[in-house]
Amino acid sequence: MIFYFSGTGNTRWAAEFIARHTGERILSISDEIKTECRYTLSDDERIGICFPIHGWQPPRIVRDFIKKLSLPHSQSHYCYALCTCGDTVGDAITILNKDLSKKGLEAKSFFSLVMPESYVCLPFMYTDTKKREREKIEAAKEKLSIIVDVIRNRENGVDLLKKGPTPQIYSYMIGNFFNKYMITDKPFKVDEKTCIKCGKCTQICPTDNIIGGHGLLPEWKHEDSCTCCLACYHHCPVHAINYGNITKKRGQYFFKE
Ligand SMILES: Cc1cc2nc3c(=O)[nH]c(=O)nc-3n(C[C@H](O)[C@H](O)[C@H](O)COP(=O)(O)O)c2cc1C
Repeated sequence: MIFYFSGTGNTRWAAEFIARHTGERILSISDEIKTECRYTLSDDERIGICFPIHGWQPPRIVRDFIKKLSLPHSQSHYCYALCTCGDTVGDAITILNKDLSKKGLEAKSFFSLVMPESYVCLPFMYTDTKKREREKIEAAKEKLSIIVDVIRNRENGVDLLKKGPTPQIYSYMIGNFFNKYMITDKPFKVDEKTCIKCGKCTQICPTDNIIGGHGLLPEWKHEDSCTCCLACYHHCPVHAINYGNITKKRGQYFFKE
């Protein structure tokens, strides 16, 4: 059973790759979190948790899902974690494993994939060039084949993470600040003259945090459910959505095969 969260499609692509090569079912955390999150594993079924890195931590929605998760008799099942990132993951897996331990689970092997950058809301944060996007995806494909072998063989203790320097400083000092103060939908705004009211942002938002579309301008709910994955920003076909003013001249990206 593979649980995944994805804003701009990188993690969904990786999770689907693993599902195809292991034959295991795949479930979207943004859909599942609306249910009671109770699952029964079949004999020998593996547990995979796949997510993008947000501020060197697992995204809030993933952590909330784990809090809700009920997987009776799962301790003996093989568990692994895969995260996608633009560059480095810090100590995110330690944070994930602390959350999982409250459910009697532990990811025994962990992997990261460097994928095209989706975060563009701070100075000096840009989408990658098309060339760099292609290079990252090619390298990720190769690494995924190795990862799939580890998962198939249920190997423990395999650490294929690109943590980066001083992972604890990034994940705890900077990451705690980032996730407390910068994961918010308050700065989102729409350029009323450019918006074509197509409803794409409303439809793509994994937390159902946008109302409007289909003839109406989008409005963010400001109810603390936004996980700031930027799916709305990146999928807007006319770049009418911005995060404050900083993204006005930034690029857009979402995963296309
Ligand atoms: C809010 C936010 C925070 C991010 N923080 C990091 C980070 O700390 N380190 C990093 O390497 N990439 C970071 N990224 C980039 C994403 O982790 C990366 O592009 C990921 O592959 C996106 O996955 P998705 O397409 O499945 O949403 C961040 C992206 C977002 C939207």
